[in-house]
Amino acid sequence: PDMLVTLEGIDGSGKTTAAEDLREAFPDAVFTREPTDSWYGDAVRRSIGDDDADPLAELFLYTADHADHLSRTIRPALSRGDLVISDRYADSRYAYQSVTIAESGDPGAQSIEDPMAYVRSVHRPFTRAPDLTLYFDVDAETGAERSGATNKFETVSFLRSVRERYERLAAEEPERFVRIDAARPPGDVLEAAVEAIEA
Ligand code: TYD
Repeated sequence: PDMLVTLEGIDGSGKTTAAEDLREAFPDAVFTREPTDSWYGDAVRRSIGDDDADPLAELFLYTADHADHLSRTIRPALSRGDLVISDRYADSRYAYQSVTIAESGDPGAQSIEDPMAYVRSVHRPFTRAPDLTLYFDVDAETGAERSGATNKFETVSFLRSVRERYERLAAEEPERFVRIDAARPPGDVLEAAVEAIEA
């Protein structure tokens, strides 16, 4: 039914587990993710592994991957009339990169007054907004613990800031965002996710 559903949340929120389970519930849907499996996505993963990556360079790598994802996967699937479910999408940039830019000591990044507004403005002209966003909500301590804190994005204080940005996005668009309490057992989380998509 040419509908775009995105899964969002901090690291360790369990959305990737939910995505796996959703495949069984929606066998005809197109499942995809950001970072993608293209070479743009590979470039993004290299940057995630680089503790000194420039936050603006990183924003544009993620955004390049998003542009390719839209033209190669998202728009063709939607025009075929498919249900598309993406594990992470533009809101990940609005939440994560607005924190990395705000917390950067780089003069270029510092001269950006409102990082979230800036990141959104970069996407606005070409992106396709999701019809529904499932927001898997856990606190930063749980997220860091579950994710094992294996990269620069997975510390408690960083995830706390990212979560605050997600809260802001959800408050702005309460109709698009459906909050799922992701601290519950996986079965309950899946049930809530399936219900939201079916509704
Ligand atoms: P992801 O592959 O979803 O994480 P996981 O290893 O848990 O499956 O995302 C990788 C990391 O990249 C994660 O810490 C979130 C971050 N990220 C951003 O900062 N901005 C983005 O736009 C995206 C898509 C991911």
